[in-house]
Amino acid sequence: MTRVLVLNGPNLNLLGTREPGVYGADTLPALEARCREHGSRLGLKVECLQSNHEGTLLDHLHTWGALHRAGEAAGVVFNPGAYTHTSIALHDAIKGIAPTPVIEVHLSNVHAREAFRRHSWIAPVAAGSIVGFGIDGYLLALDALARRIAAGLSTKP
Ligand code: DQA
Repeated sequence: MTRVLVLNGPNLNLLGTREPGVYGADTLPALEARCREHGSRLGLKVECLQSNHEGTLLDHLHTWGALHRAGEAAGVVFNPGAYTHTSIALHDAIKGIAPTPVIEVHLSNVHAREAFRRHSWIAPVAAGSIVGFGIDGYLLALDALARRIAAGLSTKP
């Protein structure tokens, strides 16, 4: 089975209790379980990681870029949390592991919130972005990766 990483950034470990009106009532383990279940229906082995640390997120992207280059991984579904709006280092990392597809996901509709959330350093280097659909956004991103594989844009760069 092709491996896919679902990577969550800062504060997403607080899901379930963090601003449930914005982010929903589901916990991070529940989100990850849904991703794993959906992935197995698509023939994808979904692995999940979360970190509150920018450098750790960079390290995970580098590792999964190498796995993609080795033909072992299809890509990364990435919710960078607030680093979306601040991190040139994450922008550079995604550029640096190209052509590994990284799909940007946000639970909330960042465009309908504060002005500072409208800018993403990730969007210009992502394969695509999905915002505002809650956990379904992660499942849609997995669908997109599965469709890339079916289209022959598979695991090999
Ligand atoms: C978020 C949106 C970001 O603006 C925010 O900082 C988050 C969560 C989302 O999933 O909607 O931490 O990435």
